[in-house]
Amino acid sequence: MTAPRPPRTQALDFSRRLRAWYRRSARDLPWRRTRDAYHILVSELMLQQTQVSRVLEYYDRFITRFPDLEALSRARESQVLAQWSGLGYYARARNLHKLARHVVREAPAAYGATLPSTPEALRALPGVGAYTAGAVASFAYEQRAALVDTNVARVLQRALAPRLNVKRARDLTQLWAMAESMLPRTGRAVWVHNQALMELGALVCTARVKHCGKCPVRSLCKTAAMDAGLR
Ligand code: ADE
Repeated sequence: MTAPRPPRTQALDFSRRLRAWYRRSARDLPWRRTRDAYHILVSELMLQQTQVSRVLEYYDRFITRFPDLEALSRARESQVLAQWSGLGYYARARNLHKLARHVVREAPAAYGATLPSTPEALRALPGVGAYTAGAVASFAYEQRAALVDTNVARVLQRALAPRLNVKRARDLTQLWAMAESMLPRTGRAVWVHNQALMELGALVCTARVKHCGKCPVRSLCKTAAMDAGLR
């Protein structure tokens, strides 16, 4: 069974409320102050399975040591791993280094030594999955690209499709389709929308606790309506 997509007017209402809340409540994080695709890629890779507070200890140092893809491509893998040391999941660092070498040395003509801007082209790079591709496309290039990680999947599932199971591949495909259908029209609004979905999952609609009293989309949320019906 396919979960119903929210009608377009409802999707836009959801997005507008979410974006207004983000402008009031979002954290000021360094990777939200840049449109440098490489810096955003570094932050998104670091943030996989890792707390924001922990990433903040590494991000600036890494960017200072390796300010662009060129610098990273010239480094030895051991130097890259040394900067990543303590963050864990070292495949992320190895893939990032491979990616830099690939983009700068092996395909400079194809890429102009910069990261591509479409999710499809980004996904072809080492270590870049669907989420990361959507993040770089929307956060660096303000492309109209969706992103779904575990936090976003949980937010969309609770708000719009409580019968889906975020652990099922088939249901995740549906949540991706839903995320696509929710995107606002302009790239700038998509940037805020995607950051706001991540922020809502991190601060309000968390895995452990639903802080519905603080939620900007509570009035549109199916899980909140079901929970209210039970009281
Ligand atoms: N986790 C992954 N991407 C993030 C972002 N852009 N801001 C905050 N947390 C994140």
